Amino acid sequence: MDLPAEGARRTALAQALRSAVRSGRLAGGTRLPPYRALAADLGLARNAVADAYAELVAEGWFTARQGSGTRVAEGVAAAAAPSAGAGPAPERPRHDLLQGKPDPASFPRGPWATSARRALAGAPTEAFGPGDPRGRPELRRALAGYLSRTRGVRTGPENIVVCSGFANGLRLLASLRPRDWAVEAYGLPFHHGILDAAGIRPHPVAVDEDGARTGEVPARARTLLLTPAHQFPTGCALLPARRAAAVEWARSTGGLIVEDDYDGEFRYDRKPVDPTPWQLGERRNSRQRLPVGALQALDPDRVIYLGTASKSLAPGLRLGWMVVPPGLMEEVTAAKGFGDWASSTLDQLTLAEFIRSGAYDRHVRKMRLQYQRRRNDLVARLAADAPHLRVSGVAAGLHIVLELPPGTEPDVIRSAARQGLALHGLSYFRHPDAVGPHADGLVVGYGTPTDSLWSGALDALMRALPAP
Ligand SMILES: Cc1ncc(COP(=O)(O)O)c(C=O)c1O
Repeated sequence: MDLPAEGARRTALAQALRSAVRSGRLAGGTRLPPYRALAADLGLARNAVADAYAELVAEGWFTARQGSGTRVAEGVAAAAAPSAGAGPAPERPRHDLLQGKPDPASFPRGPWATSARRALAGAPTEAFGPGDPRGRPELRRALAGYLSRTRGVRTGPENIVVCSGFANGLRLLASLRPRDWAVEAYGLPFHHGILDAAGIRPHPVAVDEDGARTGEVPARARTLLLTPAHQFPTGCALLPARRAAAVEWARSTGGLIVEDDYDGEFRYDRKPVDPTPWQLGERRNSRQRLPVGALQALDPDRVIYLGTASKSLAPGLRLGWMVVPPGLMEEVTAAKGFGDWASSTLDQLTLAEFIRSGAYDRHVRKMRLQYQRRRNDLVARLAADAPHLRVSGVAAGLHIVLELPPGTEPDVIRSAARQGLALHGLSYFRHPDAVGPHADGLVVGYGTPTDSLWSGALDALMRALPAP
């Protein structure tokens, strides 16, 4: 055991806790996380955390009482604050509840390192050459198998193009199809910005609790961007009849659907892919049993499917994939090679090995359980403390939507900011050209906070919500 190093880290922790109290980031009365949880988050021994807490109790910063744990002492921050009139310092939010971010602490470093070593050792010499704009064949093979098995995508490796995330794929498609796009009225502003930068002013298609109203796509549109498995951010799956209507629109107009399957792996209510491919036009009575496999399976000639490792692994990897209709492969490959070469060969080979070895499946399974527990905590806490607010979009993904009384969203967002929460309201995701009624709501991400901060984040959220 490295005693001096452990001791130094305990001292650093005590110091960090003192300055958090002094600055008000840890407010009087805040309950500290249990030793075990904080120790796990920081990679410290449990005793080191217990010792740091004991030190701060002894100094009067914290109080410890049987049954109520360790808390920040009341009034101590004000007493310790510098007396000069510096005014309130702008604060960084303490709790990141922004939608859709995976837990960065859960990146599978060990298994990824194993795959990277194997990939490097087994890489053929030509892999270190300039490469193919479509991506490494090993990864395209692994993805073809994975996507057909888990998402019902109909493809072979020959129709896959590796890209550096969904945003990169969207930018490329915008350059190829510079006119007449339709998008869901709610979506990621960053993606709207990508289209805007390409000079595209899309037509927003209304979204309701069954997803985008695909029967209302204007006939003049040439390209339709959809999130069929899990509408972003409202959280519903696209109704089968609306899937059929989207494909029908594409067939009858020669249009193309861009399917953004950003978090298809994280479903909590049913299997991500239906074992029996369901038929175009089939209607199912119960929303509970809607299949949520890829829309691409309905018509691989009219749908370009995009997936990403940003939710399942990490956005920092910048790895994504496109499944391209055969008739467009040449054009997409040429554009990829011309504008924006490829992702790192070594990362591609590593992901191929990660998928092939089963490590990707294991990681997704583990994270699905972890996020599901988080989702359950959040929904249970809302049911107990805010039963007057309706929760939706709970069946999948890394965020939920909390509906708010009409007109209250701006106030609730301000109140959330005062509680140290970073999150967005539903209106943030509404396309600026969307028309018609819009609902007030909060989009609450639950993937990012560490275990030790999670209960504090929930407390802060409950304090920010409007009373019945
Ligand atoms: C709706 C949506 N699509 C796609 C993505 C993935 O984007 P990328 O692969 O560019 O990281 C995200 C990630 O935040 C998202 O929210």
